[in-house]
Amino acid sequence: MKSLIDILDLSVEELYEMMDLAIDIDAHPDKYAHKCDGKKLATLFFEPSTRTRLSHEAAMYELGGNVIGFSGAQNSSAAKGESVADTAKTVSNYADIIAMRHPVEGASLVAALNASIPLINAGDGGHCHPTQTLADLLTIYRERGTLSGLTIGMCGDLLYGRTVHSLINAMTRYEGNKFVLISPAELALPDYALDVLKKAGAEYEVTESLEESIPKLDVLYMTRIQRERFDDPEQYERLKDSYALTIEKMELAKPDMKVLHPLPRVNEISVKVDDDPRACYFRQCLNGKLMRMSLILKLLDEAKVPGNGGYWEKGELHTGGCCTNKKCITKSEQELETKYYIAEDGSRRCYYCDAAITE
Ligand code: NCD
Repeated sequence: MKSLIDILDLSVEELYEMMDLAIDIDAHPDKYAHKCDGKKLATLFFEPSTRTRLSHEAAMYELGGNVIGFSGAQNSSAAKGESVADTAKTVSNYADIIAMRHPVEGASLVAALNASIPLINAGDGGHCHPTQTLADLLTIYRERGTLSGLTIGMCGDLLYGRTVHSLINAMTRYEGNKFVLISPAELALPDYALDVLKKAGAEYEVTESLEESIPKLDVLYMTRIQRERFDDPEQYERLKDSYALTIEKMELAKPDMKVLHPLPRVNEISVKVDDDPRACYFRQCLNGKLMRMSLILKLLDEAKVPGNGGYWEKGELHTGGCCTNKKCITKSEQELETKYYIAEDGSRRCYYCDAAITE
């Protein structure tokens, strides 16, 4: 069963096909209005969401399908202690496809391994958010006409910002992209995401200054400081106003630089920037819905072919050790054994959340 857990589950060719399909859906919605007649999407959202949940739901309705689900862990049996695996096995009896968001890292992979229908990772803790990347890719493609040869600034919370991790996985696969990583030192990229840049041989620089970097950027990807992922509220208070994109800073940017943001915005982009034609973040929301329509069509189509697999091959899996990430699914899921793979640098990485594994 093909599911989408990590953006690397989709090849570059598949992504181009999906973008072409999304553009066609936008131009000819009537052609697709009955493609999912009689099908059900289950949206299992254990964390808050506006765009991701509603755009998946709108996507399914616009394809002629229906939606069931819940929008908070307190409304599900997770509040009674039910495991992710049991939830996935249960919902497989009620729907044709699942979109799941969960605060625990690796939860979507565990759900997909236990579901008998395709599963879409709509965000697993601070780890990955592949469908946001689909929205980001189509936005860059439409706004810049290419996904290659771009200097991409990523600004804000690069540590906990799952959208950044997935976007790096995606953009390093296109030729000639350079990355400018703009964050306070305490919110720098986690090792597994930095490894992706190194492995791809991508040019990148690390800086704390948005002002100094903005003139060289083709794309600026702003992010929110992720309050809900901080263990220490004082650290959040100290870092929350690290960046603010203002009309003054936009004056330093290239005339064709594009500003993306996965949203929600807290105060890292002034509302005055919204009227600048370079601000793409609301068009990005529409692109997100179109790409989710494309994804639902693709996964339901592939579900007709029996057989398992379809995940990004991280390498040979071994059992044992202990994951160092206290937000990993191996810490909370009943009787889930730790599994790991060997990364490029020889270190052991958790199969579920990619963090380091101890002996
Ligand atoms: C993002 C997320 O949930 O990670 N939002 C979204 O899905 N559009 C970004 C965020 O919450 O900051």
